[in-house]
Amino acid sequence: MSRKLFLVATALFWMAVGVAWLDSRSGSATPVVPPVEVGKRFTLAEVARHATEDDCWMAINGKVYDLSAYLPEHPSRPDIILPWCGREASEAYRTKMKGRPHSGMADQLLETYVMGSLLAE
Ligand code: HEM
Repeated sequence: MSRKLFLVATALFWMAVGVAWLDSRSGSATPVVPPVEVGKRFTLAEVARHATEDDCWMAINGKVYDLSAYLPEHPSRPDIILPWCGREASEAYRTKMKGRPHSGMADQLLETYVMGSLLAE
Protein backbone atom coordinates (compact mmCIF):
# COMPACT_ATOMS: atom_id res chain seq x y z
CA MET A 1 0.00 0.00 0.00
CA SER A 2 2.71 2.50 0.98
CA ARG A 3 4.65 1.52 -2.15
CA LYS A 4 1.60 2.39 -4.26
CA LEU A 5 1.29 5.72 -2.46
CA PHE A 6 4.98 6.40 -3.10
CA LEU A 7 4.60 5.69 -6.83
CA VAL A 8 1.54 7.94 -7.15
CA ALA A 9 3.26 10.76 -5.22
CA THR A 10 6.37 10.45 -7.40
CA ALA A 11 4.26 10.52 -10.59
CA LEU A 12 2.37 13.59 -9.37
CA PHE A 13 5.63 15.32 -8.45
CA TRP A 14 7.15 14.84 -11.91
CA MET A 15 3.89 15.91 -13.57
CA ALA A 16 4.02 19.13 -11.55
CA VAL A 17 7.66 19.65 -12.60
CA GLY A 18 6.65 19.07 -16.24
CA VAL A 19 3.79 21.58 -16.07
CA ALA A 20 6.05 24.19 -14.43
CA TRP A 21 8.65 23.64 -17.16
CA LEU A 22 6.11 24.04 -19.98
CA ASP A 23 4.73 27.13 -18.29
CA SER A 24 8.15 28.75 -18.02
CA ARG A 25 8.83 28.00 -21.70
CA SER A 26 5.60 29.67 -22.80
CA GLY A 27 6.77 32.86 -21.13
CA SER A 28 3.49 33.37 -19.34
CA ALA A 29 5.32 33.97 -16.07
CA THR A 30 7.08 37.02 -17.52
CA PRO A 31 4.66 38.84 -19.85
CA VAL A 32 6.30 40.94 -22.55
CA VAL A 33 5.28 44.58 -22.24
CA PRO A 34 4.49 46.05 -25.68
CA PRO A 35 6.58 49.13 -26.59
CA VAL A 36 4.82 52.32 -25.58
CA GLU A 37 4.68 55.06 -28.19
CA VAL A 38 6.44 58.11 -26.86
CA GLY A 39 5.02 61.57 -27.37
CA LYS A 40 1.68 62.88 -28.54
CA ARG A 41 -0.20 62.37 -31.79
CA PHE A 42 -1.35 65.20 -34.03
CA THR A 43 -3.48 65.35 -37.15
CA LEU A 44 -2.53 67.45 -40.16
CA ALA A 45 -5.53 69.67 -39.31
CA GLU A 46 -3.90 70.44 -35.95
CA VAL A 47 -0.54 71.13 -37.66
CA ALA A 48 -2.32 73.54 -40.04
CA ARG A 49 -3.38 75.69 -37.08
CA HIS A 50 0.30 76.59 -36.55
CA ALA A 51 1.25 78.21 -39.83
CA THR A 52 2.87 81.51 -38.89
CA GLU A 53 6.41 82.70 -38.35
CA ASP A 54 5.91 82.90 -34.58
CA ASP A 55 4.02 79.62 -34.33
CA CYS A 56 5.36 77.24 -36.94
CA TRP A 57 4.71 73.49 -36.91
CA MET A 58 5.65 71.08 -39.69
CA ALA A 59 4.94 67.41 -40.35
CA ILE A 60 8.07 65.69 -41.62
CA ASN A 61 8.39 61.93 -42.22
CA GLY A 62 5.52 60.99 -39.94
CA LYS A 63 6.50 63.23 -37.05
CA VAL A 64 5.37 66.69 -35.98
CA TYR A 65 7.86 69.43 -35.10
CA ASP A 66 7.48 72.85 -33.51
CA LEU A 67 10.06 74.91 -35.42
CA SER A 68 9.02 78.35 -34.14
CA ALA A 69 12.23 78.82 -32.15
CA TYR A 70 14.43 77.55 -34.97
CA LEU A 71 13.14 79.64 -37.89
CA PRO A 72 15.32 82.71 -37.17
CA GLU A 73 18.39 80.41 -37.13
CA HIS A 74 17.67 78.67 -40.43
CA PRO A 75 20.42 79.48 -42.97
CA SER A 76 18.17 80.01 -45.99
CA ARG A 77 16.15 83.12 -46.87
CA PRO A 78 12.97 83.12 -44.72
CA ASP A 79 10.73 82.90 -47.79
CA ILE A 80 12.20 79.45 -48.59
CA ILE A 81 11.15 77.83 -45.31
CA LEU A 82 8.19 79.94 -44.09
CA PRO A 83 5.65 78.64 -46.65
CA TRP A 84 6.06 75.17 -45.11
CA CYS A 85 4.78 76.18 -41.69
CA GLY A 86 1.53 74.34 -40.92
CA ARG A 87 2.09 71.79 -43.69
CA GLU A 88 3.33 68.33 -44.60
CA ALA A 89 6.94 69.21 -45.47
CA SER A 90 8.74 65.86 -45.91
CA GLU A 91 9.54 66.46 -49.57
CA ALA A 92 10.69 70.06 -48.94
CA TYR A 93 12.93 68.88 -46.10
CA ARG A 94 14.29 66.00 -48.16
CA THR A 95 15.26 68.19 -51.13
CA LYS A 96 15.65 71.74 -49.71
CA MET A 97 13.52 72.57 -52.76
CA LYS A 98 16.57 72.17 -54.94
CA GLY A 99 17.23 68.45 -55.07
CA ARG A 100 19.80 68.35 -52.27
CA PRO A 101 19.24 66.63 -48.92
CA HIS A 102 19.91 68.25 -45.55
CA SER A 103 23.03 67.11 -43.68
CA GLY A 104 23.09 64.58 -40.84
CA MET A 105 23.65 67.52 -38.53
CA ALA A 106 20.38 69.06 -39.74
CA ASP A 107 18.61 65.72 -39.14
CA GLN A 108 19.90 65.68 -35.54
CA LEU A 109 18.89 69.30 -35.02
CA LEU A 110 15.41 68.56 -36.36
CA GLU A 111 14.87 65.84 -33.73
CA THR A 112 15.41 68.36 -30.94
CA TYR A 113 12.13 70.05 -32.01
CA VAL A 114 9.97 66.90 -32.16
CA MET A 115 6.61 67.01 -30.41
CA GLY A 116 5.02 63.72 -31.41
CA SER A 117 3.84 61.64 -34.31
CA LEU A 118 1.51 62.47 -37.18
CA LEU A 119 -1.88 60.80 -36.94
CA ALA A 120 -3.50 59.72 -40.20
CA GLU A 121 -6.84 61.50 -40.72
C1 HEM B 1 10.98 71.99 -44.72
C2 HEM B 1 11.40 73.04 -45.35
C3 HEM B 1 12.86 73.41 -45.47
C4 HEM B 1 13.43 73.87 -46.61
C5 HEM B 1 12.73 74.14 -47.95
C6 HEM B 1 14.85 74.07 -46.31
C7 HEM B 1 15.77 74.56 -47.20
C8 HEM B 1 17.08 74.84 -46.90
C9 HEM B 1 17.98 75.58 -47.76
C10 HEM B 1 17.64 76.18 -49.12
C11 HEM B 1 19.17 75.67 -47.10
C12 HEM B 1 20.44 76.45 -47.50
C13 HEM B 1 21.14 75.97 -48.69
C14 HEM B 1 21.83 74.65 -48.54
O1 HEM B 1 22.39 74.35 -47.46
O2 HEM B 1 21.81 73.89 -49.49
C15 HEM B 1 19.04 74.92 -45.86
C16 HEM B 1 20.05 74.68 -44.98
C17 HEM B 1 19.90 74.11 -43.75
N1 HEM B 1 18.71 73.72 -43.17
FE1 HEM B 1 16.91 73.73 -44.09
N2 HEM B 1 15.09 73.70 -45.02
C18 HEM B 1 13.91 73.30 -44.46
C19 HEM B 1 13.72 72.87 -43.16
C20 HEM B 1 14.72 72.72 -42.23
C21 HEM B 1 14.52 72.23 -40.90
C22 HEM B 1 13.17 71.83 -40.32
C23 HEM B 1 15.74 72.18 -40.30
C24 HEM B 1 16.14 71.73 -38.91
C25 HEM B 1 15.44 71.93 -37.81
C26 HEM B 1 16.70 72.66 -41.25
C27 HEM B 1 18.06 72.77 -41.02
C28 HEM B 1 18.99 73.25 -41.92
C29 HEM B 1 20.43 73.28 -41.71
C30 HEM B 1 21.15 72.83 -40.43
C31 HEM B 1 21.00 73.80 -42.85
C32 HEM B 1 22.50 73.98 -43.14
C33 HEM B 1 22.95 72.97 -44.20
C34 HEM B 1 22.76 71.52 -43.77
O3 HEM B 1 23.21 71.19 -42.66
O4 HEM B 1 22.18 70.73 -44.55
N3 HEM B 1 16.04 72.99 -42.42
N4 HEM B 1 17.75 74.46 -45.75
